[in-house]
Amino acid sequence: MRIDIITLFPELLKSPFEVSIVKRAIEGKKVNVFFHNLRYYTTTKYKQVDDAPFGGGAGMVMMIEPIDKCISKLREDRKYDDIIYMTPDGKQLNQKISNECSLKENIIILCGHYKGVDQRVRDHFITREISIGDFVLSGGELAAAVFCDSIIRLIPGVLGDESSALSDSYQDNLLAPPIYTRPANYKGWEVPPILTSGNMPKVEQWREEQAFKRTKRLRPDLLND
Ligand code: ADE
Repeated sequence: MRIDIITLFPELLKSPFEVSIVKRAIEGKKVNVFFHNLRYYTTTKYKQVDDAPFGGGAGMVMMIEPIDKCISKLREDRKYDDIIYMTPDGKQLNQKISNECSLKENIIILCGHYKGVDQRVRDHFITREISIGDFVLSGGELAAAVFCDSIIRLIPGVLGDESSALSDSYQDNLLAPPIYTRPANYKGWEVPPILTSGNMPKVEQWREEQAFKRTKRLRPDLLND
């Protein structure tokens, strides 16, 4: 998979790609991630990337030209499956979307700033709009990092234990069951005895029951989906 991220603030984005699972995925060539600074695609003397909205109003709007130039340059070299815009009014990210996107070959992610991008960018270039929740961040960079993390860990071969992503919360509309590790007794707080019984079928059954109970208690809406 190849991910091209278009941003005004690459420095805001880089560190999540430099640690842990995502770093290993990049080192293991499971994914290539490239950052493109929009400012390099401006033609104006002062490297202008935003301007006042037509019709007036507060805030600035990201201009179409640098975005067009950057996307067109990328498209010269390969075809993209999706051009994604991170925006609070996009479709809310969930595990289903992450699963779907983790199977793509090449994607572009555009990070918005200020009031957002000129609507013509959305109308003519963007194929998918994603929000990470009903709140407004200062820009799309942190949202892009969240989205990339969620898809990169799903690329086959990225997680050592293949089944590990499958047992994540949300993967089958269930939250994950409680987990424990040593010591089995800490200050009198004991782990459920079934987990140390060595009876794997029973352990599996217990986990399924716990996942169901936890989902029913914390996210009953998931069970209705
Ligand atoms: N940009 C600003 N806020 C955002 C959000 N909640 N999700 C995605 N992109 C954003």
